[in-house]
Amino acid sequence: MTRRVERPGVRDGYDRWSETYDATPNPVVAVDRRHTLTALAAEPGERVLDAGCGTGFHLGRLAEARVRCLGLDFSSGMLRQARRTAPAARLAQADLNGGFPVRPGAFDALVASLVSEHLVDLRVFFAQAFAALRSGGRIVLSAFHPDLARAGIEANFERDGIEYRLGAARHTVDDYLNQISDAGFVGLGWQTHAGDARLVDEIPSAREYLGEPLILLVQARTRD
Ligand SMILES: C[S@@+](CC[C@H](N)C(=O)[O-])C[C@H]1O[C@@H](n2cnc3c(N)ncnc32)[C@H](O)[C@@H]1O
Repeated sequence: MTRRVERPGVRDGYDRWSETYDATPNPVVAVDRRHTLTALAAEPGERVLDAGCGTGFHLGRLAEARVRCLGLDFSSGMLRQARRTAPAARLAQADLNGGFPVRPGAFDALVASLVSEHLVDLRVFFAQAFAALRSGGRIVLSAFHPDLARAGIEANFERDGIEYRLGAARHTVDDYLNQISDAGFVGLGWQTHAGDARLVDEIPSAREYLGEPLILLVQARTRD
């Protein structure tokens, strides 16, 4: 029997997914959790903006480490979960395809994890990210790997026999690096993280991703 597929749109899709997102085994998310906060290396007292905070995994860890954080997301469902996961974090509803509702230069660091595949114009996003950071601030971007998007894989989940597909824009590695650099960021570094044996131990169904790129992690900073 063929499975029914629905495309509810990104915001509506994440609203529907929000209650089960954290319990959905997801190879890309699992690899993100290993690397992103380590790359961010936030210190207690720092001000960190989590752009596309989802259910608040990163916010929760940051708040526990006494980092002062603000999470932005456009899905009310995801923000409701983030409120539970990270009660100490500030949250605001915002569409990252437009302006960020923050003061220019207000943050020491910005993290954006697994949201960029939903953004229509990376130039707008990185310009907003740059403006939100102080001089000498840093950005850590964890992107759904462009090779996955190119292979036609997209954010998706299943419920009651229906597969919901939320899309994945086909930004390339060069698109990311060029747009980050064009926004004014310097000191770019990037790595690809692929599926490995540890991932298969955690999520047996991830065997098909052994050796396949899952996230592109980019770090950069604004000039001092
Ligand atoms: C795959 S989830 C990742 C959430 C979180 N960063 C994490 O690592 O678990 C993507 C998130 O991006 C949010 N999102 C997608 N497009 C957005 C947009 N244009 N503006 C704001 N949030 C957006 C979704 O609502 C969802 O919470």
